[in-house]
Amino acid sequence: MITRSALAPGVLQVEPDAAAVAERVADTLLRALRRGSCLGLATGRTMVPVYGALRRRLADLPSPERGALLAGWRSFNLDEYVGLGPADAGSFARFMAEQLGDPLGLPAAALRLPDGLAADPPAEARRYGEAVRRAGGIDLQLLGLGNNGHVGFNEPPCPADAPCRSLALSQVTRQQNAAAFGGDPAAVPAQAITLGTAEIRVARRLLLVVTGAAKAEVLRRCLLEPPSAALPASWLQGHPGLRIVVDAAAASQLPLS
Ligand code: GLP
Repeated sequence: MITRSALAPGVLQVEPDAAAVAERVADTLLRALRRGSCLGLATGRTMVPVYGALRRRLADLPSPERGALLAGWRSFNLDEYVGLGPADAGSFARFMAEQLGDPLGLPAAALRLPDGLAADPPAEARRYGEAVRRAGGIDLQLLGLGNNGHVGFNEPPCPADAPCRSLALSQVTRQQNAAAFGGDPAAVPAQAITLGTAEIRVARRLLLVVTGAAKAEVLRRCLLEPPSAALPASWLQGHPGLRIVVDAAAASQLPLS
């Protein structure tokens, strides 16, 4: 793989605030849809303004173009909680339906996620990873960043080539995501299914999106420390199709001139 510095201007883009980040990322998603790309999608608060900006862009298109893009929509989400399905308020299936599926009128089969209600989560993880491979892999993978350096739900420690799997969530992550469960970390499911660092790193392009001062330190470490299992997002370093879009607050610990 060609290694490029994660801070090079073509890789890292710093926007003034989260709203500007969302506009920039939505532009990239729209261009990818126009190319017929298979999208890898992410959940989390970071993505709420991104999907809002994408909905607005799609709404502004002439109806025939919008219809064609939606008809050709192909996406795989990164992850889902074990034990939750689309009827559960905290599920990622519900998040995606609310953010994109329902407002855009996407057919259920277009917006794919791991099935959190599957009776055998390890088998579901294998099936989902295989489905991504059979579809030809991900063209553009959107990624948020966990407070502990996770991408998807690849919790540390995580090797560079972990496959799609079911795994236990860390306390840090259950705390981070508690807001969607009435603020109670114990109400956050203990297990999840996630695409692995293996599937993520073979995506043709990666788009890491990070906003807010709370992630400035972990972002700095993921971009500047040697890649290691302790920081799963650090395995993205050197990916030839990596782009990182952050706001000024998230970039505040980076040595930018
Ligand atoms: C969850 C998701 C991750 C996401 C992270 C960031 O843990 N599994 O894919 O990156 O949330 O969340 P937020 O954007 O809410 O900080």
